[in-house]
Amino acid sequence: MMIREGDLALLYFGEGRHYIVRITRGSTYSFNEGIVRAEDLLGRCYGRTLRTHIGVEYKVMKPSLLDVVYGKFERRTQVIYPKDAALIALKAGVGPGSRVVEAGTGSGCLTAVLAYLVRPDGTIYTYEVRREFIEVARRNLRMLGLEEYVVFKEADVKSGIEERDVDAVVLDLAEPWAVLRHAYSSLRSGGVLACFLPTINQVERTVEEARRIGFVMIEAEEVLERKYKVRRGETRPELRMVGHTGYLVFARKP
Ligand SMILES: C[S@@+](CC[C@H](N)C(=O)[O-])C[C@H]1O[C@@H](n2cnc3c(N)ncnc32)[C@H](O)[C@@H]1O
Repeated sequence: MMIREGDLALLYFGEGRHYIVRITRGSTYSFNEGIVRAEDLLGRCYGRTLRTHIGVEYKVMKPSLLDVVYGKFERRTQVIYPKDAALIALKAGVGPGSRVVEAGTGSGCLTAVLAYLVRPDGTIYTYEVRREFIEVARRNLRMLGLEEYVVFKEADVKSGIEERDVDAVVLDLAEPWAVLRHAYSSLRSGGVLACFLPTINQVERTVEEARRIGFVMIEAEEVLERKYKVRRGETRPELRMVGHTGYLVFARKP
């Protein structure tokens, strides 16, 4: 696949040394390893091995969704981590053609993951009260060409959800229990509610409210991710890990 104007490229210099750049004609990119010019890359294919102006070798790769969302997006809020985003997407059944309501948008990290999955004919309706975050998320989504799958709504989701018969409602905000009644009205039968909650007292309140409203198949869980240092005879967990992100609550409208 050929690199064209406006594309993103991952320049790999070695383990722990890679950079994601947007290729725009006339641009130069400076690293410890030397300077790369956009013209060195334009018209070349991903996978090529090239050299900086001081002769340091690098490999050009096409970045993945994960590389861009978690390596290149501007972050102005707490964001959903990949381990949680992955389970939310799977358990909420998000796929091509899905219609999903999300709140709040924040920096748009989860919005991007969901938008990527609903292509080519699904839509994410994302509610956010703060206009400045909508602009951040919009810029972030544009970076991946995903903006067209997202309807940004500057609104307080506690005041109501306009969409009906949606496949999933995904909530990442402080008081999800105040939105569950609207989520229930918005979901189709069999549609999934997914909530991300940083503290355990939020889990109790959310689950109690979900039960009261009539949601079924309610589950509360947490995803723990541990990375490993792999060397023959010495393989062991990494010394550091992300201790806590949040809890997840899933439920279904019967
Ligand atoms: C933790 S951030 C969401 C981060 C997002 N999931 C991401 O991955 O980038 C929570 C967002 O919810 C927004 N928010 C809080 N209450 C809201 C409400 N009632 N309606 C809409 N948005 C709300 C906040 O302004 C904030 O941007």
